[in-house]
Amino acid sequence: MKYHIALLKGDGIGPEIIDEAVKCLDVVAKKFGHEFEYDTQIIGGEAIDAVGVPLPQETVDVCLASDAVLMGAVGGPRWDTIDPSIRPEVGLLGIRKALGTFVNIRPAKLYAPLADACPLKPERLGSGLDLIVCRELTGDVYFGRKWRDDDGTGHDDMNYTIPEIERIAHRAYALARKRRNHVTCVDKANVLETSRVWRETVERIACEYPDVTTDYQYVDNASMQLVLNPSQFDVILTGNLFGDILSDEASCITGSIGMLPSASLGDGPLGLYEPIHGSAPDIAGKNIANPIATILSAAMMLRYSFNLDAEAQTIEDAIDAVLEAGLRTGDIAKQNEQSISCTEMGNAIANAIAS
Ligand code: IPM
Ligand code: MG
Repeated sequence: MKYHIALLKGDGIGPEIIDEAVKCLDVVAKKFGHEFEYDTQIIGGEAIDAVGVPLPQETVDVCLASDAVLMGAVGGPRWDTIDPSIRPEVGLLGIRKALGTFVNIRPAKLYAPLADACPLKPERLGSGLDLIVCRELTGDVYFGRKWRDDDGTGHDDMNYTIPEIERIAHRAYALARKRRNHVTCVDKANVLETSRVWRETVERIACEYPDVTTDYQYVDNASMQLVLNPSQFDVILTGNLFGDILSDEASCITGSIGMLPSASLGDGPLGLYEPIHGSAPDIAGKNIANPIATILSAAMMLRYSFNLDAEAQTIEDAIDAVLEAGLRTGDIAKQNEQSISCTEMGNAIANAIAS
């Protein structure tokens, strides 16, 4: 089969990590007899530099016409002082909205060979870390009206409609059914009205899934539970802002934010796949970034948008194998342990896929 993939490399380490993911995808294509056709488009800072806006219409059109979108990262200090309405991040939020990808799936898993890189004491890990943050992605305070009063007061409107909560809740329960049948709803219902609507809606949807256990945590408690007892979590169902924060926290337990992929999906098969980390401008161009989160995102693309389970599994197994073999980029290496470059990690994973 032939698949059309839009590539949005973006800024900072974006181009380096996307190149390694494409390298791995090409090996998968050869091994399984598929054809992946790439169309590279600009987004974020690179688009601001080229055409003055972070999300050109052509980028949106190509993404909408593709089978899936694979993205690197956007942003960097160069664009920090720019008019906030055209920051690089606006391009990212814009493409999420344009594709209607309202559910963001962020699996956090601690790989056994990386146990040393986990900052938690081993006894805290219990049965291990294997959870999914199911983050709502196209609503919340991210997309509410933003304005300033004449006296300089800043406002960000936080809102959630009931249908927005219902559709993400159904997705979280469907995910839980394929896992350990446990959803933790995370909100701030003791303070926020949006969270009270969120929780009431989830309570109602939960009745449709009697085989799934639901518990409820306030976000402050959840952030504490994540480091005290992370193995209690299976699927964390939460809003856009809380999901952003909790997924960074969950990622560091896996050893490095460089390990976490994500899939953003809407109602159809078209998805947006990106590592959860940013553009890491401090290490851009040095060939030392960890490409694993992006390569795992490509695996999620194969699974969720193309229904290619065996192919996705082959990538994931290849990553297990290279980690097992002790290969480490700098972010997951122990102090004084030898680390390899971004390209070398990509090559090692591509070779493991081929073999
Ligand atoms: C993420 C990022 C983005 C977000 C930023 C870059 C806008 O932190 O994907 O987690 O907040 O969603
Ligand atoms: Mg984030």
